[in-house]
Amino acid sequence: MQTLAGKKILLGISGGIAAYKCAELTRRLIERGAEVQVVMTKAAKEFITPLTMQAVSGRPVSDSLLDPAAEASMGHIELAKWADLVLLAPATADLIARMSAGMGNDLLTTLVLATDSPIAVSPAMNQQMYRNLATQENIATLERRGMHIWGPAAGEQACGDVGPGRMLEPMQLVERCEQFFGDKPLQGKSVLITAGPTREAIDPVRYISNHSSGKMGFSLAQAATQLGAKVTLVSGPVSLATPADVERINVDSAQSMFDNVMDNATKHDIFIACAAVADYRPQTIAEQKIKKTDDSDQMTITMVKNPDIVASVAKLSESRPFTVGFAAETQDVEHYARTKLAKKNLDMICANDVSVEGQGFNSDDNAITMYWKDGKQSLTLASKQQIASQIILTIAERLEA
Ligand code: C5P
Repeated sequence: MQTLAGKKILLGISGGIAAYKCAELTRRLIERGAEVQVVMTKAAKEFITPLTMQAVSGRPVSDSLLDPAAEASMGHIELAKWADLVLLAPATADLIARMSAGMGNDLLTTLVLATDSPIAVSPAMNQQMYRNLATQENIATLERRGMHIWGPAAGEQACGDVGPGRMLEPMQLVERCEQFFGDKPLQGKSVLITAGPTREAIDPVRYISNHSSGKMGFSLAQAATQLGAKVTLVSGPVSLATPADVERINVDSAQSMFDNVMDNATKHDIFIACAAVADYRPQTIAEQKIKKTDDSDQMTITMVKNPDIVASVAKLSESRPFTVGFAAETQDVEHYARTKLAKKNLDMICANDVSVEGQGFNSDDNAITMYWKDGKQSLTLASKQQIASQIILTIAERLEA
């Protein structure tokens, strides 16, 4: 099937052992109707020859920024404009670092700077290099700039190590391209998302809050937008940039989050409650700063329950959106998640075990299991952006079910 008919894919290959798979990848893309222009870094040519890539792509390989002959045929700016998608596979730690730093010291990085086409990055490297904080931060930077991160997969590596860092297989990359160019499953749908913590004021200068960073909710907003939805994000106080094309409403307390959500819920097809809402708030907010006293070593704040936002939306009798909640648990995750699913009358719940270090609260990664009435699906540890895309795809499927 010509699922990629007429699509212009600029395949950027950097110097990793997975480069040997690029001939196969190119064949499979062309088979589906894509036009593939290969650009190689100097190191990539040590792993697979330009002649091989020219033969399979049917086009001369571009590899030099300062080649007058190449510039005369299709110059680097023209190449950057030509692509419908720039696919960097394999993307080594070095290429990712150079892109993150905004460098343009060879043809490939220059193209990345000069293009306004979407860019997909398929990391491939040794597992320790992948786990290195510098690499993780660089990948997070690229994600934040709107690049799509495809992979890596985990498993046995060419060097003998086992772990994350394998390039996705050629057919998996082809599927990602098909998905990318295919129908957007949430086209025409609107999504309301809550994110971040809430702040419950004690007096004019103090509040009670929690450690939520808002990353998961913001990643969901970005993923839903990329899959075609119109997104409204009701966010507690966080220090995150608003994803492109997302409408953001800033709130502070649970009550203000509740008010904004209830004003908007019936106008949306899907509601995702990702915020870490404070369950209780001080009963009264002191008008003046509360002073320390000498007569007692204790102070008592009487707390009252906040409204349960997601349960209130799920209770709506008219124009009720498809309602998704989150559950952070420390034990017996499935039992507590399913209890919450039923009690709050949700359509789906995304549960994670926050007792496991490196996932959930304030982390860049997450592992989640999604539960619905008669099914479940687990997503293994990956960046919150990748988990978010999978959650949104599952919601789109459940919506149709
Ligand atoms: O009851 P619990 O706080 O564990 O449930 C978590 C889910 O409920 C999350 O989806 C969270 O956003 C939502 N929630 C809410 N309003 C509250 C408390 C939790 O929407 N007051």
